[in-house]
Amino acid sequence: MKNFLYLITAVLTFLSNINVQAQENNMTDKKILVAYFSATGTTAKVAERLSQAINADLFEIKPAQPYSNADLDWTDKKSRSSVEMADKSSRPAIADQVADMSQYNVVFVGFPIWWYREPSIIDTFMTSYDFAGKTVIPFATSGMSGIGDSGKSMQALAPSAKVLEGKRFSSGVSAEELKSWAEGLF
Ligand SMILES: Cc1cc2nc3c(=O)[nH]c(=O)nc-3n(C[C@H](O)[C@H](O)[C@H](O)COP(=O)(O)O)c2cc1C
Repeated sequence: MKNFLYLITAVLTFLSNINVQAQENNMTDKKILVAYFSATGTTAKVAERLSQAINADLFEIKPAQPYSNADLDWTDKKSRSSVEMADKSSRPAIADQVADMSQYNVVFVGFPIWWYREPSIIDTFMTSYDFAGKTVIPFATSGMSGIGDSGKSMQALAPSAKVLEGKRFSSGVSAEELKSWAEGLF
């Protein structure tokens, strides 16, 4: 009888562990941050829509020195963005820090595609925190380019994180589309 009770207890413990694991794989049990950089407002709108759709906190990656229109001129090789993007080691300063990064399990990182990849200020962001144990999910807006190798570059800058490939969205992407994309990742 005693052995039988031990067996029942073991089976129940096993089943409840499976249940806990299933719940941990669900997005609703994760603390999520949507961090974004946006020079002209397009990525900001998508980031806001995403954070509302998935109940995540929102953080703007603000440049310490904002980008002027002249800074963003990709036809000028000497503009600030051209100079930064031509130098892989460029790390433009960010104005504010995330208050407590340690509380998040998942960090979505949004940005405009600049020269087919993540802007240098995103590289600053990726090297500014300890991402150990966190999943980082890039998302982007662009004129037409895809997200390219942004995820790979970001992974190289934060080796302790698990950085997914991510996705490029058009500016008009709906909250429903963003939600089902995010839920499909977990
Ligand atoms: C310096 C610079 C470089 C860009 N490079 C690309 C590019 O390589 N491919 C592309 O499709 N769009 C490119 N764009 C367009 C932006 O990705 C696009 O307008 C984006 O949605 C802007 O987002 P934001 O309003 O959040 O800054 C570039 C824009 C700038 C300012």
